[in-house]
Amino acid sequence: MTDQTPPASTDVLSAPTAGRVSEEAVWEVLRGVIDPELGSDIVELGMAKGVRIEPDGTVHVTIALTTSGCPLRAEIQRNVRTRVGALAGVTHVKLDWTELDQAGKAAAMERARRNIAERAEQTAVPSSTKVVMVASGKGGVGKSSVTVNLGAALADMGFTVGIMDADIWGYSVPRMVGLDGRMHAEEQPPEPDGAAAGDKRARIIPNEIPVGDGRLKVVSMGFLVEDEGSALMWRGLVLNRAVQHFLEDVDWEGVDYLLIDMPPGTGDVQMGLAKLLPRAEMLIVTTPSLTAQKVAIRVVDMGRKNFLHIAGVVENMSAYVDDTGREHRLFGTGGGDRLAEDAGVPLLARIPIEAAVAHGGDHGRPVALADGPAADAFRALARRIVEDVIQPTDMSGCSSRMLDAVQAALDEADSGPVATRAPS
Ligand SMILES: Nc1ncnc2c1ncn2[C@@H]1O[C@H](COP(=O)(O)OP(=O)(O)O)[C@@H](O)[C@H]1O
Ligand SMILES: [Mg+2]
Repeated sequence: MTDQTPPASTDVLSAPTAGRVSEEAVWEVLRGVIDPELGSDIVELGMAKGVRIEPDGTVHVTIALTTSGCPLRAEIQRNVRTRVGALAGVTHVKLDWTELDQAGKAAAMERARRNIAERAEQTAVPSSTKVVMVASGKGGVGKSSVTVNLGAALADMGFTVGIMDADIWGYSVPRMVGLDGRMHAEEQPPEPDGAAAGDKRARIIPNEIPVGDGRLKVVSMGFLVEDEGSALMWRGLVLNRAVQHFLEDVDWEGVDYLLIDMPPGTGDVQMGLAKLLPRAEMLIVTTPSLTAQKVAIRVVDMGRKNFLHIAGVVENMSAYVDDTGREHRLFGTGGGDRLAEDAGVPLLARIPIEAAVAHGGDHGRPVALADGPAADAFRALARRIVEDVIQPTDMSGCSSRMLDAVQAALDEADSGPVATRAPS
């Protein structure tokens, strides 16, 4: 790619020439050059390839970019020039550009993914909770139906499942699970370090219902606004904050799976969520129509850009199965396979069209808890997720749980009445 790029610049910097600059000093300042897209410095990312210093104080730096047409090139260039140029003894800074090879790119992505995960803003989602974003290219494909029914099927297996309705403008989860009423908030006890009363944070308690051996914990705008109409009056900014509150201030303790019903497409809310939850997995819901896959693949791209893992595709409204067991492919065929292939991920389920799906949704009784082809498909999807694709965190023997138990015992010993040993 070097032949496509203009010759390295020969900017003269008026730095003092007293003494020679060391290679280590140059490497050190290169660590301050962050690739804004990947969120790590260019040394850590393996993009700073070489440093050579000439006797006259000219410093040559070789930078490998992830793609030749990297739009951030100008920014990295400016950054390297100013930082290296500011070192004592540097007279010129010359940059040579090259491109990372395949292995280098993979390593850089992996590094960036890890860094972002480590640096992610604190959410109230425990690290043992598996976060699953249910996303789609457009609305009306059954994203909410899949979220709610997968949630119900997982709960029925005995898991504690959180459902976060992030489709703020088009929320539908409360109706689909048959929950209404307000969510309530509990005031947090003040921090031990004596935070002022005004700093007290309220913790939002999700609305909850038992399902089978498990439970569903649901948060939705629908529990906060008076009616569906008034939700529309909330401004975009407030709504984006609402989603953040759902992650930061909701009590998700003990939740095995947190399913997030995403708004359709790739807007600000989706990007914000992806940044807040870098360890999330994505399930992409699509219809069998082949033409719909162009929009769906954009969601896959967005997820990948944010280093999310794409767990697989769910094809909804696959076929209508009549009483005799014959399939009628009303909405075409092949869409799920096409998307799965384009994205390089498995097709995890085909959910048939069935009136009971819509009926169950309208009446707050998820079809996954009843019988029929759709119920079977949802339950099979839940099993596949648990056994194979997104296995639950096994907490038995997990050190964090042990530490929790130790802490609880210590707290009890501290606050309880002084034990008086019973004479034996
Ligand atoms: N497999 C299905 N069979 C029949 N109706 C379905 C199915 N999946 C979804 N629906 C219905 O299609 C409509 C759109 O589904 P919904 O889950 O709200 O989509 P989204 O959340 O993607 O906008 C709803 O009325 C829902 O009940
Ligand atoms: Mg929806």
